[in-house]
Amino acid sequence: MQLFAFFSVAASFLAVSVTGASAALIASAPIAECKQETVVHEGFIGKDNNVKFQTSHCGETPRVSANGQVIGLDKRQEASSNVCGAQCNTFCFSGAGGGPNEDDCKVVANALTFDSANQGPLFNITASGTPTDKVTMQFGSCLTYFLNQDSGNLTYCRDDWSSLVTWLAGDCNAAHGAHGGLCVAADQRWYVQVQNTSG
Ligand SMILES: *[C@@H]1O[C@H](CO)[C@@H](O)[C@H](O)[C@H]1NC(C)=O
Ligand SMILES: *[C@@H]1O[C@H](CO)[C@@H](O)[C@H](O)[C@H]1NC(C)=O
Repeated sequence: MQLFAFFSVAASFLAVSVTGASAALIASAPIAECKQETVVHEGFIGKDNNVKFQTSHCGETPRVSANGQVIGLDKRQEASSNVCGAQCNTFCFSGAGGGPNEDDCKVVANALTFDSANQGPLFNITASGTPTDKVTMQFGSCLTYFLNQDSGNLTYCRDDWSSLVTWLAGDCNAAHGAHGGLCVAADQRWYVQVQNTSG
């Protein structure tokens, strides 16, 4: 089911960093779940040093196709590794209730913006299948991660991730009958998910 009504309002806001995103609500979408996760690095970021980050790898990787379906391994061909501003398609996890608190997600979004200004606008995510192909940020009830689904390293913009956290937390909230969501690259090389920390 397409959610054109709210999307047309929000699209102009998101167009700044993530152009052409589209929103759809998956009829019965399970949250893409990371199983057997092995954490390599962790620490805290943000102005108040209170947003936890981790780089990790999922033993069972929750791969997502461009049309929002959880799929198996699908090796992509090499292309430009900087995916800042790349188009992604938004899918909300259906069912109101149990989603992340939007204020908690705001703290995460602000920490990413802060990091962009202070650490630099870009960050690298190593190739799919490597021990650090997943980068997670978490504050309170809000958890977001970037998963590299590509066979090569990717570079992404912290400000774009921040925008996606705000976008997904707002447009995939209980008022829209959802409890979080994800935005998967049109070319399937990566996705960003926003969900409740408790799963
Ligand atoms: C990302 O990787 C590229 C290529 O290895 C490197 O030149 C660049 O400095 C890295 N950027 C960051 C932010 O680590
Ligand atoms: C990918 O990034 C890792 C970690 O920075 C680096 O060791 C590796 O050489 C990179 N691979 C390529 C193909 O650039």
